[in-house]
Amino acid sequence: MNPEQWTEVDRYIGSALIPADPVLDAALKASADAGLPAINVSPAQGKLLHLLTRIHGARRVLEVGTLGGYSTIWLARGMLPAGGKVVTLEVDPKHARIARTNFEHAGLAKMIEVREGRALDTLPQLATEGRGPFDLIFIDADKVRIPEYFTWALKLSRRGSVIIVDNVIRKGEVTDAQSSDPSVQGVRQLNELLAKETRVSATTIQTVGSKGYDGFTLAVVN
Ligand code: SAH
Ligand code: DHB
Ligand code: MG
Repeated sequence: MNPEQWTEVDRYIGSALIPADPVLDAALKASADAGLPAINVSPAQGKLLHLLTRIHGARRVLEVGTLGGYSTIWLARGMLPAGGKVVTLEVDPKHARIARTNFEHAGLAKMIEVREGRALDTLPQLATEGRGPFDLIFIDADKVRIPEYFTWALKLSRRGSVIIVDNVIRKGEVTDAQSSDPSVQGVRQLNELLAKETRVSATTIQTVGSKGYDGFTLAVVN
């Protein structure tokens, strides 16, 4: 068992279940050409987000951490054909610009609002504007602030809202209470928060694949 094998299996799953898609492929290529890091969700993970959006019948989706918009496209397409809206938050103007171009190319620009700025500024803005509640929230920005993003996600939720947090296993380092990695400590604080938080019911799934060994937390608001 090794990362090469996980990647090979992801390729195999992809070839069977996730047909090559010109729009998604172009979004990844444009992101890579612009020098964005390849830290987007994998195709299989993107499709899971898409399926969860469909299963939930989501019409309002919030994403924290856009990058080139690869996961955003999966989420937005989960609301077709009925329609819906994704608000996606991104601090880096270059990432936001590439993402907007990718959304135009995907024919999804009307469904997606990219908000530039630090999420800790744009999340309270959304609340002040009375935006939300969101049906589904995907938290995938800097990991240090995961607990704060989760708390904002709760404020922008309703009963039944689904909250997904990416990258919560960190190659297994999450169990190391002494870890000097601030991202690991961010995830550990999320788990402390979840241990006490009666307003949500949550689980965490470890994953391996083309993006290595990591995982995600899935929560529903009670
Ligand atoms: N969801 C994307 C990947 C996001 S990578 C996908 O799967 O396709 C994380 C993104 O969060 C990066 O683009 C980074 O610039 C952004 N980010 C980091 N800190 C942030 C902050 N404080 N506020 C908003 N976005 C932030
Ligand atoms: C990083 C961020 C992500 O959202 C991810 O899925 C993988 C890596 C990172 O910041 O390194
Ligand atoms: Mg991620």
